[in-house]
Amino acid sequence: MKKINFITITIIINLLLSSCASTPMANEIGTNTVAQKPSATAEEAPQSYEQSSANARIDDGRTVVGISMPDKLLERWNHDGIFLKEHFEKEGCEVILKYADNLIDTQISDIRSMIDGGADLLVITAVDGAALSSVLDKAKSQGIKIIAYDRLLMNSPSVDYYVSYDNYKVGVLQAEYVISALRLEKSSQTKTIEFVTGDPVDNNARYFYQGAVDTLMPYLESGKLSVLSNQQGFYETSTAQWSTDIAQQRLQIILNSYYPENVRLDAVLCANDSTALGATRALESDYNGQNSVVVTGQDADVANIYSIIEGKQSMTVFKALRDESVVAVALGLSILSDETPDAELITRSGWKFECSYNTTDYDNGSKIIPSYLLSPITITKDNLEKELFDTGYYARNGSGLIYAVE
Ligand code: BGC
Repeated sequence: MKKINFITITIIINLLLSSCASTPMANEIGTNTVAQKPSATAEEAPQSYEQSSANARIDDGRTVVGISMPDKLLERWNHDGIFLKEHFEKEGCEVILKYADNLIDTQISDIRSMIDGGADLLVITAVDGAALSSVLDKAKSQGIKIIAYDRLLMNSPSVDYYVSYDNYKVGVLQAEYVISALRLEKSSQTKTIEFVTGDPVDNNARYFYQGAVDTLMPYLESGKLSVLSNQQGFYETSTAQWSTDIAQQRLQIILNSYYPENVRLDAVLCANDSTALGATRALESDYNGQNSVVVTGQDADVANIYSIIEGKQSMTVFKALRDESVVAVALGLSILSDETPDAELITRSGWKFECSYNTTDYDNGSKIIPSYLLSPITITKDNLEKELFDTGYYARNGSGLIYAVE
């Protein structure tokens, strides 16, 4: 597991003692167990991870997990961070959790400080999937295991596993919703659609886009569906940093240029909820038509749940973050126990949610990364209560305000 700094025999003896004292723990994450090392006491722990030097990589009996998240601006990463931290801590691991403010350099220095802070395992959601290769290689060279969480880490052979939702299916669900809401199969009229896709440096964005476009292609080709702006390609419809403002501004320009009075827009296929918020704002301010425009999304962010209830957004694709973190933690514990997890992890964990093991689809440019993929679901006004609230993922407080349960 950890690099041993051969300083004194005492350390080696401590190491042996601590691994002998390890107790495999049954856990709710899965049925796998990890050889637990007792946590460091307050005196033993470095005052801050930044202060700890490379010498902190002495195996001191701790199991340290570094969690590097992209930013706190988008609702979901706040929940992911909390879920992952809590689950790993419950399993006796020490956690270093950092948010990179959507800055590549900050994320690189966060990961460096995790390496210096003695991390055994890194769980990373990249700001830019292709920008971390050298720091990942550094981690790998020190024996640290790496899980790409939700977003694939690109162009690096150092990545061990990937945990995510089936990203292609997210786009398929959004497109299927549009097809059914606009009754494209039966209608003889041409309907109009615009695309608002995600951040091109996020590898997921292309999967969402491809799933949607492949599903809509028969209708785009037959002319049943038309994109009046003519902006249909991945890059020209993309939204840097998944920004609500950028999505809003782009759609406002499109509405003013291509949808004057009497030109009807039927749907805006938005890749996620932050872009959907931008789209609904643009429609409110700059769309002249009287029809309600179909708007898709992804994540079930609280603001968007309200939007769906109010009829401004039509659907979202829900990915239970708690379940995604459960898979990442079970996988992490298995790797830390020196296992080589595969499909069997799913069988033995007995999760109540769908999860598949995929060894073909996620090529990061250096190798195919074995992936655990969960299954997203469509949420509309009609099933929102049942799928989000009855399941306990969301709740309402005493004043009736919706919140995500942590
Ligand atoms: C995630 C989405 C999220 C988007 C923006 C993607 O990588 O899969 O759930 O909406 O990033 O943060």
